[in-house]
Amino acid sequence: MKVHNFALNILWFLAAVTWVRSSPQGRSTSVTTTSLIIKHGYPVEEHKVQTSDGYILTMHRIPYSPNLNNNDEERPVAFLMHGLLCSSSDWVLGGPGRGLAYVLSEAGFDVWMGNARGTTYCKKHASKSALLQPFWNFSWHEIGIYDLPAMIDYTLYMTGAEDLRYIAHSQGTTAYLVLNSMIPRFKNRIRSAHLLAPVAYVENMKGPLPKLAGPVLGQPNAFVEVFGSAEFLPNTKGMELLGAVACRDESHVQVICSNVIFLIGGWNSPHLNESMLPEIMATTPAGCSINQIQHYLQEYNSGEFRQFDYGKSRNKKTYGSKKPTEYNLEAIDVPTYLYYSDNDNFVSLVDVVRLIYGLKPETLKRAYRLPYPKWNHIDFLWGIDVETIVYDVVMEDIANS
Ligand SMILES: *[C@@H]1O[C@H](CO)[C@@H](O)[C@H](O)[C@H]1NC(C)=O
Ligand SMILES: *[C@@H]1O[C@H](CO)[C@@H](O)[C@H](O)[C@H]1NC(C)=O
Repeated sequence: MKVHNFALNILWFLAAVTWVRSSPQGRSTSVTTTSLIIKHGYPVEEHKVQTSDGYILTMHRIPYSPNLNNNDEERPVAFLMHGLLCSSSDWVLGGPGRGLAYVLSEAGFDVWMGNARGTTYCKKHASKSALLQPFWNFSWHEIGIYDLPAMIDYTLYMTGAEDLRYIAHSQGTTAYLVLNSMIPRFKNRIRSAHLLAPVAYVENMKGPLPKLAGPVLGQPNAFVEVFGSAEFLPNTKGMELLGAVACRDESHVQVICSNVIFLIGGWNSPHLNESMLPEIMATTPAGCSINQIQHYLQEYNSGEFRQFDYGKSRNKKTYGSKKPTEYNLEAIDVPTYLYYSDNDNFVSLVDVVRLIYGLKPETLKRAYRLPYPKWNHIDFLWGIDVETIVYDVVMEDIANS
């Protein structure tokens, strides 16, 4: 356990109780991925997919660009996967020319956007109610081994394509690493993978979340039974409290700090396009299970990239050993491209380097460190000029692979 301030832990604890026990404040749901795409004049489809463990997920698709004459042709397929507490809206908030979904559409791709269980568009299950605890009994491990296979198989089935390009941000990259370290058949289904702000190891995570919550929520077993398997509900009061503590020296950014996304990804970036904040606030955070956050915090404490830690006795039953099983990065065979930056609170440079050396050299096609020292975790989605700084590089790599 890392050195920490006891009083801050108590504060965190109280905030956590507030979050878990209270219901979410009414939030405008009028801004959705579909409404954003329609607003910008692109065709959009919604698709429902059921995972093998019963979760019903909504995917969004921009089948073709209205500016190209290729809607009768066979188009290559791109699959986009969002990060923690985010959703498919990440890829379209920026609008045409800036949102990655539009960039890919203009390049002739059939664009599919996944949504993970528990997010705004995925609160349904064949037999469990999202109001009850059993629904929330999952982490990003399950997103990797259930949600991604269901959505990728469905996308390939619907399009008739043989393979697709996988592009993801943050937790979407973690789920990719989980999937391909555990289920080898996707090596023939994913032609190349492009991971923005890739998260495997997080031992050197910065920011208020690990400092305040790591020592408490990152313990195996300690809070799993009490707080675990619940929806993480960062309500406004809890966030105001945490935001006020976290950003107390930078009062001009308190609006930003009242959104948990920025507390995780960082708020001290000059690249953020602040005009986008109203729409970011309307769609984010998009919901997750407490277990997903716990799972990351366990990794912060252990320094390992491994499965959920249930505590010694249950680990023994689940994994056959006292410690959780580690993900085997060497089992990944999909050509993989990493894009990372210096000012990323969630994944520090040291942690990315460890991932780089963990992958097989023939798997890792490129590790691109952005030449902007202030670029942070969130800027990969909403940074000013993200289209030229990041997406142009991704498009070039896709063209060459
Ligand atoms: C969560 O699921 C596991 C099996 O995957 C089960 O052992 C455990 O009791 C469940 N926990 C809760 C709180 O439902
Ligand atoms: C910032 O976002 C707003 C709203 O989406 C947009 O109109 C504007 O062009 C963006 N500015 C830059 C520099 O990208």
